[in-house]
Amino acid sequence: MDMEPTVDVRLTEADLRDALCTDVLLGLSGRRKWLPSKWFYDGQGSKLFEAITELPEYYPTRTERALLRAGADEIAIAASGAAELVELGSGSSEKTRLLLSSLSEHGSLRSYVPLDVSEFALRAAVGWINEEFPRLEIHGVVGDFMSRLDSLPRCGPRIVVLLGGTLGNLVPAERAEFFGRMYDVLEPGEQLMLGVGLVTDPAVMVPAYDDAAGVTAEFNRNILQVVNNRLGADFEPDRFAHVAVWDADNEWIEMRLEATADMTVTIADLDLVIEFAAGEQMRTEISAKFRLTPFHGELAAAGFRPQRCWTDPADRFAVVLARR
Ligand code: SAH
Ligand code: TRP
Repeated sequence: MDMEPTVDVRLTEADLRDALCTDVLLGLSGRRKWLPSKWFYDGQGSKLFEAITELPEYYPTRTERALLRAGADEIAIAASGAAELVELGSGSSEKTRLLLSSLSEHGSLRSYVPLDVSEFALRAAVGWINEEFPRLEIHGVVGDFMSRLDSLPRCGPRIVVLLGGTLGNLVPAERAEFFGRMYDVLEPGEQLMLGVGLVTDPAVMVPAYDDAAGVTAEFNRNILQVVNNRLGADFEPDRFAHVAVWDADNEWIEMRLEATADMTVTIADLDLVIEFAAGEQMRTEISAKFRLTPFHGELAAAGFRPQRCWTDPADRFAVVLARR
């Protein structure tokens, strides 16, 4: 009998509003302004991200998709024990189709648990996956993968995946915290699969975050619209310029919004007034790129045994499988 998919909303609109209040107070009232990148993803942000994945300059999505396609059989063998696939930051789940079909055809996969902060993206994904994989149990979760993950549905041995280079959007301290939580939540023998961007030529990396058509700029500015919508702020997004730079010391791409003039912004719901000086930059995201040897070391230090790794011929992206 086919099962109806479920969507468990663990982050309500009210929770999101409270969390955004905290982040805005923390990030915008200090001297060096910043906002956490998860706030990009309201419905509009998720749509813009999907448009980014199709841009000629944005190589990560198509490179990762090719790795998942070419490695499908090997992945199915290496993860043949998994009964459940938990995907963190699942977004459209588009590339996951490849994992779902190989793990259910050649393995023992029964259940898929996509988790995302964007309820809009999650509901759309749950809908099409249910049509395409009617025999799979689907339990969507609207939630934050940096919060407690110990009460997720579990129907057997799991593989947890985090694709799209999203791991690189965490600052190193958050990344260590993420690995620690994964270590605590997984049972010995369960697996973690990570899709990460590798350090490559800045002439390739930077345009991926600063495309000619300006879609990434629009995506970046959408974070201000999210603050306007949720907290009654009066940011004028068009008066902020998109900036993407390669930070060679930290080996990450840094995305910023630069005030093009002196501005005063009021955040009504917080009774907060913020001044921007012309040229002032606010950090909205990092996208760390990795080198394989230290990355495997980082996994090992967190208690994971790196098992397999797939890379593209140009060494721009890697899919890494590790066991707890
Ligand atoms: N996995 C997809 C989407 C990557 S974009 C792909 O590879 O194309 C990053 C996704 O992670 C977005 O859908 C965003 O809503 C989600 N996300 C970002 N931070 C998150 C967090 N802290 N908790 C849960 N989801 C998060
Ligand atoms: N996880 C994606 C990445 O780091 C997110 C992303 C892609 C992104 N393009 C962006 C975030 C532009 C902010 C701005 O590649």
